[in-house]
Amino acid sequence: MAHLLTNVPTCFAMVGLPARGKTFMSKKLSRYLNWIGVKTKVFNAGEYRRKLYGTVNCKHDFFDPSNISGHEARMRCVELALADVEDFLKNQDGQVAILDATNTTRERRVYVHNRCLDAGIKSFFIESICDDRDVIYQNIMEVKVSSPDYVGVDEREVYNDFISRIHHYEALYETLDLDLEGHLSFIKVINVGKKFLVNLISGYLQTRAVYFLMNIHIAPRSIYLTRHGESLLNLSGRIGGDSSLSNSGIEYSKKLRDFISSQNIRDLKVWTSTLKRTIETAELIDAVNKEQWPALDELDAGICDNMTYEEIQEKYPEDFARRDQDKYHYRYPRGESYEDVVSRLEPVIMELERQHNVLAVCHQAVMRCLLSYFLDTKANDIPYLNVPLHTVYKLTPVAYGCRVETFQLGVSCVDTYRKRPNDVRIDRSPIEALKTVPSHDVLDYDSSWNRKVSKPVASIPIETLEL
Ligand code: ATP
Ligand code: F6P
Repeated sequence: MAHLLTNVPTCFAMVGLPARGKTFMSKKLSRYLNWIGVKTKVFNAGEYRRKLYGTVNCKHDFFDPSNISGHEARMRCVELALADVEDFLKNQDGQVAILDATNTTRERRVYVHNRCLDAGIKSFFIESICDDRDVIYQNIMEVKVSSPDYVGVDEREVYNDFISRIHHYEALYETLDLDLEGHLSFIKVINVGKKFLVNLISGYLQTRAVYFLMNIHIAPRSIYLTRHGESLLNLSGRIGGDSSLSNSGIEYSKKLRDFISSQNIRDLKVWTSTLKRTIETAELIDAVNKEQWPALDELDAGICDNMTYEEIQEKYPEDFARRDQDKYHYRYPRGESYEDVVSRLEPVIMELERQHNVLAVCHQAVMRCLLSYFLDTKANDIPYLNVPLHTVYKLTPVAYGCRVETFQLGVSCVDTYRKRPNDVRIDRSPIEALKTVPSHDVLDYDSSWNRKVSKPVASIPIETLEL
């Protein structure tokens, strides 16, 4: 696993003017690294500033280079953030700490690099350069107008203040310089991935980060995830196998076809596993691009394949109990664990990052692992995510997280959920017909907002504003 290959703690330090996607990239990278098993945490300088100095005096003049106390206050925030970075990497088993600050001067980068060096921590700089006016406008409207720095402030005022803040930083900005800073490890991401410059990459963590940053994009799109329609083995409560759809499953495949066509999705790619139940579920969908991925096949239950949970408990009681104790790490004899499934899904996640609109028709355990990447779910909770049959999850990127819409298409089916032992929530019988009334729910997930519904993107016409 990744953590065995990554024993040098590393500080990833962001570099760039305000509204260049540093927080966006920090959060996304952190989510990805945690998902592949690398313990990562983001340290955001703005949060230190708000904690220490509040938000009352943080309008643009706070960031003016001639404001000495503002400068000292910001330096203090970085010092504190770096102390926490060090504590996380040295005392809390952290592997990557992301210092989400502007770090726009050479002097600041020397300071960050030297402090890391003294503490035996590697440093790696990630600079975002963007001169695309439309992107910067969108960024301010998408995340800055709802920032805690501007609670209750009019949108236009926020916009103007934020532009002034950017100008203050521009006055002192020094981009990473190959001649003067060629000894540093860094990547420059130019105009949202149109171009990259990579220097002195060292080790597994930096390589993974560079690969990830080279694959992400910010174009609007949605990812649709669903499990296959109910299968004959689902009906008899057996796990695994390769059975066809039940009558209800066939009904779901028709409803899914109608649902997908009602969404009017541009250039939809449809991915299935190599198992009959997902292929049959996607059969009726009208899409030019259909692909089968072995990586999307269901968790391999090894010697327990085709058995019911009751049969497993009776025949292999010790294994059954061990799975309940640590379901994420438990590996079926001659089969897989959830941890194994996460690692084989990594190329699928990377491809999902690169692609635009995709529908993936998969399986219970696989869907839990895929969803956990988007929802930043803790490893031990992944095997207990409740992802019912006959339900489509639509994931759309918003701000720093993603909006999750669930569409229950109203075709009755068995419930394959097995609750966590000692879970106090209402018991569910293993075979329970779901509601047959179609329903639609919306939730926004973000590591900092925690399921708050975001503010819609504001709508000041771009031509009326000055950048
Ligand atoms: P600040 O210094 O004020 O904290 P920031 O650089 O951290 O600003 P973000 O808050 O991360 O900027 O901006 C988020 C927006 O950046 C999102 O709307 C996202 O679409 C966009 N974004 C993501 N990646 C990039 C990139 N490489 N270049 C420019 N914008 C990006
Ligand atoms: O029951 C349907 C199924 O997809 C099985 O094929 C698979 O073994 C199981 O779900 C995974 O869920 P759990 O990890 O909760 O047993």
